[in-house]
Amino acid sequence: MTQLTPYHEDQELDNNTSTNVHFRDILEQHINRRSLITKTASGAVALTLASTLTGCNDNDNKSNNNNGGTNPPIDPNKKPEKLNFTTVPKNLNDIVTVPEGYEAHVLYALGDSINPTYAEWDDNNIPSGPSFQFRSGDCHDGMSYFGLNTATGRYDEQQSNDGLLVLNHEYINPTFLHPKGPSKVDGRRPEDEVIREVNAHGVSIIHVKKDTKTQKVELVKNSVYNRRITGSTLMEFAGPAAGNALLATKFSPSGVQTRGTHNNCGNGYTPWGTYLTTEENFIGYFQRSGTDKYQRTATEEIALKRYGLGLSIDYQYEKNPDGTPKKNEKGEIIYILDAQKNKIPNLDEQGRIQYLNTNSRYGWETAQGQVESQDLYDRWNADVKAANAGQDYRNAPNTFGWMVEIDPFDSRQAPVKRTALGRFAHEDCRTSRVIEGQNLAFYMGDDSRGEYIYKFVSDAKWDPKDINGGYRAGDKYMNSGKFYVAKFNADGTGQWLELSYGKNGLTESNPVYPFKSQADVVTFARLAADSVGATKMDRPEWCAVNPVNGEVYVTLTNNSNRGSSYPTDAANPRNYEDLYNNQKVQKGNVNGHIIRFREAEDKTTAESFKWDIYLFGAEAAMASNINLSGLTDSNDFSSPDGMWFDPRGVLWIQTDDGAYTDVTNCMMLAALPGQLNDGSKATTSNGTETIVGAKVNDENLRRFLTGPKECEITGVTMTPDYKAIFINVQHPGEDAKSYAAPTSNWPATQTDPNNTTARPRSATVVITRKDGGVIVG
Ligand code: FEO
Ligand code: CA
Ligand code: CA
Repeated sequence: MTQLTPYHEDQELDNNTSTNVHFRDILEQHINRRSLITKTASGAVALTLASTLTGCNDNDNKSNNNNGGTNPPIDPNKKPEKLNFTTVPKNLNDIVTVPEGYEAHVLYALGDSINPTYAEWDDNNIPSGPSFQFRSGDCHDGMSYFGLNTATGRYDEQQSNDGLLVLNHEYINPTFLHPKGPSKVDGRRPEDEVIREVNAHGVSIIHVKKDTKTQKVELVKNSVYNRRITGSTLMEFAGPAAGNALLATKFSPSGVQTRGTHNNCGNGYTPWGTYLTTEENFIGYFQRSGTDKYQRTATEEIALKRYGLGLSIDYQYEKNPDGTPKKNEKGEIIYILDAQKNKIPNLDEQGRIQYLNTNSRYGWETAQGQVESQDLYDRWNADVKAANAGQDYRNAPNTFGWMVEIDPFDSRQAPVKRTALGRFAHEDCRTSRVIEGQNLAFYMGDDSRGEYIYKFVSDAKWDPKDINGGYRAGDKYMNSGKFYVAKFNADGTGQWLELSYGKNGLTESNPVYPFKSQADVVTFARLAADSVGATKMDRPEWCAVNPVNGEVYVTLTNNSNRGSSYPTDAANPRNYEDLYNNQKVQKGNVNGHIIRFREAEDKTTAESFKWDIYLFGAEAAMASNINLSGLTDSNDFSSPDGMWFDPRGVLWIQTDDGAYTDVTNCMMLAALPGQLNDGSKATTSNGTETIVGAKVNDENLRRFLTGPKECEITGVTMTPDYKAIFINVQHPGEDAKSYAAPTSNWPATQTDPNNTTARPRSATVVITRKDGGVIVG
């Protein structure tokens, strides 16, 4: 059955069953140390319309900046010495709370129109699926502000009054997206619902204007720059996998194009003024039939399984009179066992083992094309159906999971999937400090339990003349370079292991996967990383680069299986128990941490680095060998996810939590971190030795904001004058069982705290100071 209940992100994929060598090393060290404690909806129409309206893109390479190209310009001289805003207390209120003297306004919520011909949002009159091509998508996530030079129509990194705000719509909350929640009719999703869902994914590009006196920010609704990129928009491939047989589909038999981007989570931006969007939990959008097992080679099955689309054996079970499976007291299916107590597979008529169908998250493949072509729905079924891959969608899953470049200022060219940066559950992408004449590095996390941290280093050295170079600059810096994965050693050193075909055993005789080319390596980056011995991390989410010293920070949000299926190690050192609501026992790395590293000799091309753990999430009251950073009530937090250094060097940390939400809603904190190795060695409650940064205090880590009920706080960007900061509130009220019984009424509650009926909607919020001053200035 298609899952029509709300999707929660912590239903993360857990597909890393590799036993790479380094992993075993760490395990042995750990054991030795002994544990102390136990149609009109397709992208084509929007593109046509937008390019008709937008006549000012001339791709000129003129630079408007004098800072070498960053977004916005780096200026560590403006870094505050200490934080002095009023701390926002932990709370469970259904509203965005900001410090005294600040104000928060909802700027752009689910369904808001970006075109004057489309009506304003009305909770009781949900607009058609196709209209969502001109409306805000759902589940706002990563976001960047790009200054707009209204005279040239191009990027101006110093412009604070006009800008393009570009943001991701990661996934959907179908309960509130449709008039009465999601439905199925005779086993099929209604087409209008599917079109609405596909359009509610992707990216928004919206023109925002800031009043120079009041600092009030508004959406410019009639701007020619406003546009949506959706799950159907035409996309190009570039880099080593472009044109490879692995990307061949019926839509593009030569493997050079695909349609759509989805599960766009964290983000990035380039120094030449383009946006990077990620494709995170993409695999769940595809359906696969059990019988497809017999159509695939063993090699194909290895790759499908490692990315979460493997098939499970259909075992015999005891049945109730109505044919449903009988279950024990724990709710587990009671399987029939043979004399050796093994489960017995069901066999087909030819005596072959039968496999279960996999379900797609939203059932898009079940829609019947009446408004749209049937092909738009068929593409979500990954079965082998035809004589070759150019005639079906067996390779459709390979066309997602990439880093996608979007030029917000250029609506004429299609976004580009940059395959050189690998295919995995891309969470975020942060560019290294931009230094003329040096190679650019792009740091990235793969957010699943036990997955890896990667970097891509451009062959080309940075040239500020490339600012405003659009996709041509992208071709220069993101198509050829070296791709690496991180290995963290227990002594605080680390290595970047190169993922290049022909090196480090990445050849056809590799025991993990027979790599035949760099296209194989990038498309199956996880398998390449397994085979070189990368370190399995606690769900790598966002990456941030400190503009002061180039150090790289990565949030590791949590891992309930750390200490069980993933033994603790120095870089992922905690396994402890915590109670939720004084009842439910939570285990593993419950509250997450933030690791940081510094490249050898501060070079982006370095193949080694040093690391420590900047910050451990915890409850203030936890024992000091769990609350290793010394958090107090003014800054304790759990599950760090979104994270960004603003150009002054203020670090913004956001949470997507389910472990401390019995006490407080998700939040954003401001931080003024020190530097690598400003702390000391430490031993965690479970006896694992690690290296922790200096303990924090109230002047260098403070809670700046809390969100409404059942939300995640994510996405953070500022205008270059630091007078407006934008954040996203994702999935408020996500636990509601029915559209008729909302558990949050935000954003209506932001202006009407007594509202108890409005639909909860994800939204972008802009925060300014009442006196028009600089944020945390
Ligand atoms: Fe979409 Fe890993 O957060
Ligand atoms: Ca707790
Ligand atoms: Ca995230």
